[in-house]
Amino acid sequence: MRGLILSGGRGTRLRPLTYTGAKQLVPVANKPILWYGIEAMVASGIRDIGIVISPETGDQVKQLTGDGTRFGAQISYILQAEPLGLAHAVRTARPFLGDEAFAMYLGDNLIQTGLEQLISRFEVSQPDALILLKRVPNPTAFGVAELDATGQVRRLVEKPKEPPSDLALVGVYLFSAFIHKAIDAIAPSARGELEITDAIQSLIASGQRVESLELAGWWLDTGKKDDLLEANRIILDEQVICTQSGEVDSESKISGRVCIGSGSKIIRSTIRGPVIIGTNCSVEDTYIGPYTSIGDRVILKKVDIDHSVVLEGANVSEAGRVVDSLIGQRAVVRSHQGVPVAHRFMLGDDSVVEL
Ligand code: G1P
Repeated sequence: MRGLILSGGRGTRLRPLTYTGAKQLVPVANKPILWYGIEAMVASGIRDIGIVISPETGDQVKQLTGDGTRFGAQISYILQAEPLGLAHAVRTARPFLGDEAFAMYLGDNLIQTGLEQLISRFEVSQPDALILLKRVPNPTAFGVAELDATGQVRRLVEKPKEPPSDLALVGVYLFSAFIHKAIDAIAPSARGELEITDAIQSLIASGQRVESLELAGWWLDTGKKDDLLEANRIILDEQVICTQSGEVDSESKISGRVCIGSGSKIIRSTIRGPVIIGTNCSVEDTYIGPYTSIGDRVILKKVDIDHSVVLEGANVSEAGRVVDSLIGQRAVVRSHQGVPVAHRFMLGDDSVVEL
C-alpha cells in the first residue's frame, strides 16, 4: 500500500501566517503538522509516500522534510499546479499511485490513533473506500456522512448547509485504485474544486463498496488558529515527556514536564509544563505557563505567556501578558512600559508590534 499526503492549498484560514509559509509546516509541539502524518504512515508500515505540494510552498515543504530518510521512508514530491481540490490532487498523483491501493492523509489533519486498525480493516474487507468519521458540533464545516439503519454509508455531502448528520469526514481515507475512475466521473463543486467527497459519493452511486469507521480518539483539523492551539495543547499533554535540559540558572523555577533544547538559557524565569522550548533560545525574567511551544532561537524577555505557539526567531519583550497566541517566525512584539492586560495575537512571519 502506498501513502499520499496532501500538502498543497492556500491555507487561507491561517492567514497571515500562510502568506509566507505552508499551513502544514506550522509546528505543533515544535514539529511540523505534516510530519505527524508521515510518522503515522511509517508506523503502520507504509514506506512509499507521495506528498502533493503547491508551487507557492512546495520548496519549503521539500527542503524541511527531505527525501524521507529521517523517517525511514521514501518520499516523492508531486506538484499540483493549482489548488483545484482534493480529488484533483489524487488525479495529479495518479502516476505515483499506479494501480495500488493507498492511504490518503490531509497534511493539516491530526488524529490520536495510528492507521493500523484502519489498514487491517481495509485489507480484510477490501472495500473501494474506507472512510473515517467523527461526530462534531459543527458539521457544516466538513464533508458529512449519512448512514442507513444498518450503519452503511448511504450518502456523503461536502459542507452541507443542512447536514444530514453530525458525522464529519476525517481527512484520512483508504482507497482502492477504483477511486481514479470515480474521480474521472465527477465535475467541480460550487467552490470550483474536484471534491474527494463527491468522488466517494460517486463510488456509492455506482454500487462500489464504501465502508466507514467511527474514530474513537481525538481528531483535529489544524486549519485555524484555535484548532492549532488546541492541537498544541493536546500533543504537549500527551506526548511531551522530556525533563528539562539546556541551561537553567539558580533563580529559575521549572515544574511539570518541560523540554528545553540545547543552547537555550533560562534566566530568573518560571516555567510550568507542559512546555517545549527549542534550541538557542533566551528566556529572561519571564513566566511560561502550560501548553506553550517556543521554537528555536526565540527571545522572551519580561513576558508572561501561556497557551501559545511562538515560532522560530520571534522576539517578545516586555509585552505584558500574552495568551492564546500564535506568533509567526521572526515576529517582534515589544513595549516600553509594563502592560497589565492580556493580549491575544495571531501574527504572521516578520510582524512587528509595539505596545
Ligand atoms: C476537507 C474535505 C472535507 C473534510 C475535511 C477534513 O475539507 O473536503 O470533506 O471533512 O477536509 O479536514 P477542506 O479542509 O478542504 O475544507
